[in-house]
Amino acid sequence: MRVYLDNAATTPLDPEVFEAMKPFLLEDFGNPSSTHAHGRKVRAAIESSRKKVAELINCTPGEVIFTSGGTEADNTLISSSVSTYGLKHIISSPIEHHAVIHTIETLDKSGLATLHMVKLDENGHIDMTHLEELLEAYPDALVSLMHANNELGNLLDLGQVGDLCKKYNAFFHSDTVQTIGHYKHDMKQLHVCGMTAGAHKFHGPKGVGFMYIRKDRKIHPILHGGAQERNMRGGTENVYGIIGLTKALEIAYRDMAEHEKYVRELKSRMIGKLQTAIPGIKFNGDSANPERSLYTVLNVSLPESDENEMLLFNLDMQGISASGGSACSSGASKGSHVLGALYPESRRGAIRFSFSKYNTTSEIDFAVEKLASLVNVKESV
Ligand SMILES: Cc1ncc(COP(=O)(O)O)c(C=O)c1O
Repeated sequence: MRVYLDNAATTPLDPEVFEAMKPFLLEDFGNPSSTHAHGRKVRAAIESSRKKVAELINCTPGEVIFTSGGTEADNTLISSSVSTYGLKHIISSPIEHHAVIHTIETLDKSGLATLHMVKLDENGHIDMTHLEELLEAYPDALVSLMHANNELGNLLDLGQVGDLCKKYNAFFHSDTVQTIGHYKHDMKQLHVCGMTAGAHKFHGPKGVGFMYIRKDRKIHPILHGGAQERNMRGGTENVYGIIGLTKALEIAYRDMAEHEKYVRELKSRMIGKLQTAIPGIKFNGDSANPERSLYTVLNVSLPESDENEMLLFNLDMQGISASGGSACSSGASKGSHVLGALYPESRRGAIRFSFSKYNTTSEIDFAVEKLASLVNVKESV
């Protein structure tokens, strides 16, 4: 048995999405910037995709810009909001994704803006009092705080942070890569200036995403070239990617209630079974709290052991694909900066399991059984 429990890293493509993409890989190959019939057909498909995405997140089509994925969208919104508005201060957190952390650190090092890190509470949530203190001290800042942490699953209250940012006139960017397609976002209700998505996190193709930019908070492009994406991103569009992203988001919204219920059950089953099977097990951050964490992510904390470093490898050998933290850094020797920020002294092992609509209860049981046999064997040695 081979079990895939690393859906926060990427999800399998939905076959319905593949079917929607196929014509744009074969027959409808025109360049959307061409004015002839081949081009016009593809241009129309891109614009109707933009309209559909806008409808789903309740914004106007002009506020949706397609990108190569979450990383490009995060980089663009952060770097360009700072340069467009001459923002001198950035407020963020130490547990953001590297697409955010490395961008804000670069801006800080270059002297363009000064970085201020907001404190976290003991569960890894943003300390709202400290956030307001920072906003008071540095109004008109860029605030970059993710909606859901990709390693812990911790959820941010976007409404609350948006209201605070509005009060202090901050540019609020939120990395929503882990929540688009899993939660409904209503951009008319949220005071968010920019947010980001990557299609491969919700059963769409890799290498395509979008950024939402509120119409009264327009920014300059980072990628200069042709007039594509309403002059906001030069370069011939990833047409079949955009078609796939849109289909995947439509399916995600269509089936959200059913899938959320199903995946929540998988996660709670895994929590219960792990607690029974592994003495001393804990969960990192607020991962086991169904109210304040992503229903797709469970970050497990295992008792201290010298062999914890081999756990992920051993799980892989037993047929289970999971992650030790951020998938984007798996393979790298450095540990997780998220767990390091939250538990600097800990020697406990950490495994991130993440679920999708394609997982089954027997896969969960299999993973628990294998993990328990690895951990409990170590303990009895
Ligand atoms: C929270 C978060 N932000 C950004 C990214 C990067 O997105 P992409 O892979 O689409 O560039 C990821 C991917 O792991 C992520 O989890």
